[in-house]
Amino acid sequence: SQSQREPIAVIGTGYVGLVTAAGFAELGNEVWCVDIDASKIDLLNRGEIPIYEPGLAESIAANRERLHFSTELGPALEHARLLFVAVGTPPTYSGDADLSAVHAVVDAMPASDRHALVMKSTVPVGTGDSIKRAFATRGKDGFRYVSCPEFLKEGSALADFRHPDRVVVGDDGDWAGQAVVDLYAPLGAPLVRTDIRSAEMVKLASNAFLATKISFINEIANVCEETGADVEEVARGMGLDARIGEKFLRPGIGYGGSCFPKDVSALKLLAGNSGYHFQLLNAVIEVNELQKRRVIRKLQKHLGTLVGKRVALLGLAFKANTDDMREASSLVLASRLQGEGALVSAYDPLAETEARKLMTGVDFADSALGALEQADAVVLVTEWAEFKELDWKAAAERMAGTVVIDGRNHLDAGELAAAGFTYEGVGRGT
Ligand code: UGA
Repeated sequence: SQSQREPIAVIGTGYVGLVTAAGFAELGNEVWCVDIDASKIDLLNRGEIPIYEPGLAESIAANRERLHFSTELGPALEHARLLFVAVGTPPTYSGDADLSAVHAVVDAMPASDRHALVMKSTVPVGTGDSIKRAFATRGKDGFRYVSCPEFLKEGSALADFRHPDRVVVGDDGDWAGQAVVDLYAPLGAPLVRTDIRSAEMVKLASNAFLATKISFINEIANVCEETGADVEEVARGMGLDARIGEKFLRPGIGYGGSCFPKDVSALKLLAGNSGYHFQLLNAVIEVNELQKRRVIRKLQKHLGTLVGKRVALLGLAFKANTDDMREASSLVLASRLQGEGALVSAYDPLAETEARKLMTGVDFADSALGALEQADAVVLVTEWAEFKELDWKAAAERMAGTVVIDGRNHLDAGELAAAGFTYEGVGRGT
């Protein structure tokens, strides 16, 4: 049956593009990947993977014969009807999505009655309609358009592809929408087939809701600190209510990454531009900013002034199992610490190369213990598994001070107390 699978093209070999390409290659589809970045294509053709994602290199290697990488659009157009668009839509300074890469793809399309763009990149509601208008005014109205938003999470992206909670397909009820539905059919996921604007909104609303859930539990954690309740117990008790659900109730130092901060402000702006003031999202954003800064106050509570104090950051990536530093809370934290006069050392098992591009004046160490050398305090920023395994007795001997601020409630409070540390987590009383 593999020979009957529809060949597809994927334009943009970043995070979403590569995972989508690998996922469909696993299902037996020929996948024609296109990227304007020749060095990335060279890398991929040499069998190297430009991003870190568990299982991705193995999946690409195992399905190599069905994956084609090129900077040329021609072969993709020749072999595939469906062209998945997975180019970046980074935030602009004002918080809008920068659609220049999407527009470049649209402009590169020829007039055709047998092709469709399938939008995976996260775009504002109405983008599909404006692309269709652009096609129409250029005599390319035979080109179909499908919105097929992506919900995968970094660190578990391939598993998310293989077992999606749902597949959302927004289209005009034409062959292209049906072809995308058929493409995903083997995954057996619940399908939401709808209009293009609604599909675009599902993506923004889902990310905004999850961000809201995180800001909510962060505020509950803050109240727990004032009232002596333990937010971990509270979240457990809340999460068992099926209407609430246990996921995304982990308090911390604020959400980061390439999606939540961008998509929350994009939805807020989209609403504002259409005349609706989305009140809740203002608070979600503000709480997230304040949450990063609370760490500074906790440090000051234990250390007094931070001038000349050495603070070690354990983990820098926006979450564990990724080298992604986009909108990582560690960036704000480090610069605030430096602003307070502290010396900052840091260790991340994977993100150091990315972090070095974005941080200045930070002393990077090769190991967690190395970062703790002579530190007055430690802040656990990213929930890497290896920090749980750290020899905290050895850590205590290397440090100048005894303060551990656990930004993720990741460490064993009892073990740290036994090793002589003053431990403070998030929302666990004081
Ligand atoms: C997020 C969504 O979860 C995906 O469904 C979506 O496809 C993706 O954005 C996207 O729009 O492309 P991702 O950014 O990879 O995925 O990361 P998440 O695992 O969702 O975490 C986002 C941030 O929230 C991280 O900083 C994480 O540490 C934080 N978080 C998450 C919490 O602070 N508490 C939680 O309980 C969960």
